[in-house]
Amino acid sequence: MKILIIGSGAREHALAWKLHQSRQVTELFCAPGNPGIAEVASCVPIAVNNIEGLLDFAEKHQIDLTIPGPEAPLVAGIVDAFEAKGLTIFGPSKKAASLEGSKVFSKNFMKNYHIPAAASESFTDYEAAVAYAETTSYPCVVKADGLAAGKGAIIVHDFKEAQLALQRCMLKKEFGSAGSKVLIEEFLSGEEASVFALCDGKNYIVLAPAQDHKAIFDGDKGPNTGGMGTYAPAPIVTNDLLEKVEKEIIQPTISGMQQEGTAYKGVLFIGLMIENDQAKVLEYNCRFGDPEAQVILPLLKTDLAELLFKAAHGKIAECKIGHSRQSAVCVVLASGGYPGPYESGKVITGLKNIDEEQFLVFHSGTSLSANGELVTAGGRVLSVVAQSDNFNTSREFVYKAVDKIDFEGVYYRKDIGAKALKYF
Ligand code: AMP
Ligand code: GLY
Repeated sequence: MKILIIGSGAREHALAWKLHQSRQVTELFCAPGNPGIAEVASCVPIAVNNIEGLLDFAEKHQIDLTIPGPEAPLVAGIVDAFEAKGLTIFGPSKKAASLEGSKVFSKNFMKNYHIPAAASESFTDYEAAVAYAETTSYPCVVKADGLAAGKGAIIVHDFKEAQLALQRCMLKKEFGSAGSKVLIEEFLSGEEASVFALCDGKNYIVLAPAQDHKAIFDGDKGPNTGGMGTYAPAPIVTNDLLEKVEKEIIQPTISGMQQEGTAYKGVLFIGLMIENDQAKVLEYNCRFGDPEAQVILPLLKTDLAELLFKAAHGKIAECKIGHSRQSAVCVVLASGGYPGPYESGKVITGLKNIDEEQFLVFHSGTSLSANGELVTAGGRVLSVVAQSDNFNTSREFVYKAVDKIDFEGVYYRKDIGAKALKYF
């Protein structure tokens, strides 16, 4: 199989690393990729949103399977464009990707199919939203409808904060057109977890549940980021809870999307809030999580190329999935200042001291300088992953590896996985 991965983050590096191990893969391309991905795939300089360019490349190189990493090309309709040309691609159609692309769409969908989620109201009119905010109870959450790079959910504690958040979304257009519709949503307390299902339109396979750490500072303080670290499997998602999540959330989502005439094919990533063994949907995403993929894919014992190819052809039911019994922990190394402004071009040292047998290092914001040095080139720079039979050991190990890597201003959370310790 000739495979094309789309994206340039550590998630796509993890995908490339896993696919590189498949005996079914003869050639692996990544657009646009990064210096880490270039070690296992041929990187081609086509941007993730250049659907025409990607289509051209896939046709010219007779790509057997295309795997978009990030949400933007999916929400823009890359799957429809590829399928119209008879090309195989693993992901949801533009309409099905609305589960992530429009929070108003996904909320209405969940209401219609009785899928547990926070109660919410949607607004396109600023005055109407403010009038509602005057009467609602606090805290609550103001959310921009569209894609906002993980920053479109604002937790507010009183009417004044709600009014400010509504102004930011609807009047100042801080999230562009994503904020012209908003939701005002009930605040859910509890602990978050991410569950992933590989879907083929009718059937699905569940991967190991993971827990992300979205806030920038230890103790979940500070602004939200793309994700500062993960571990899997997440013990808060017990087998019983996972069964319930399948019955109450995954199965009705897949059958509901079929009934709507928008069968869901691709990764269904469900962000859950869990309290007292009850799970509610915080959000749907239509792709692998980053940094969730960095811990889930190493635990997967099944050939990923085969799984995704079969899923893309509606045949996931033919696949059996195997998971390692180990736990994996990932710590993200970021540029100082992230998620605010940060500097780039800092030389990264210490990667040669990392034992490749024991650790995985996935690149995101890295590039090669004019003289060939590996330098920082983004907010999240590297994902370092350790796996072992014991969760505590994986945690200890990962920080030993992290200690060996350096660049000016390097920042990482010191408490990745701390929340899980109570389960062991
Ligand atoms: P979203 O973009 O909807 O995934 O929201 C981003 C983050 O905001 C989530 O991961 C939660 O940490 C938080 N959040 C979103 N909705 C709620 C809610 N209804 N109650 C509590 N926290 C929420
Ligand atoms: N780590 C959360 C996300 O990928 O959306």
